[in-house]
Amino acid sequence: MDYRNWIRDIPDFPREGILFRDITPLLGHGQAYKHAIDQLAEQVQLWAADVIIGPEARGYVVGAPLAYTLGLGFVPVRKKGKLPADTTAVTYDLEYGQDVLEMHTDAIQPGQRVVVADDLLATGGTMAATVELARKLGGVVVGAAFFIELLPLHGREKLSGIPIHTLVQYE
Ligand code: PRP
Ligand code: ADE
Repeated sequence: MDYRNWIRDIPDFPREGILFRDITPLLGHGQAYKHAIDQLAEQVQLWAADVIIGPEARGYVVGAPLAYTLGLGFVPVRKKGKLPADTTAVTYDLEYGQDVLEMHTDAIQPGQRVVVADDLLATGGTMAATVELARKLGGVVVGAAFFIELLPLHGREKLSGIPIHTLVQYE
């Protein structure tokens, strides 16, 4: 299945010069969405994860159905100030800005095998911060899964040593 048919390009969003890869058409197409999740799940199963972690907000529409499909728990990583219990935090850079991500300190047990999931790998800043949060709590990051990879931004280099699986790559 060519997922590009359901990924829409929006020039100059959210800032001039950014070509935004919009996955909402894919999410809105039941068959394409299910196919994409099932295809990622096949790979994630091979990593024998205990838990899936996804960053707010688009990481949830990939990570949560992946976790459900595989019968695993899902841990939400959220932007600053949203999680109610004790948190640990990391500041990170985006293709278009800077932000803080947080995770509950009891969300991962030391030694648990963690897979991180998101819709898109751009500079890798979001995922590097998510990996850092997981490792702070003793998690062992065994893989990273995405719908989309933006190759010119070299996000993979920020995730060195972690197996990465992406469904669609853009030059
Ligand atoms: C987007 C996207 C990834 C991240 C990728 O999220 O969903 O999480 O950017 O970019 P990076 O590899 O350069 O870090 P965004 O921060 O726009 O938030 P959203 O999911 O709430 O839209
Ligand atoms: N997140 C970071 N860069 C992005 C892009 N170009 N399109 C969609 N989401 C993004």
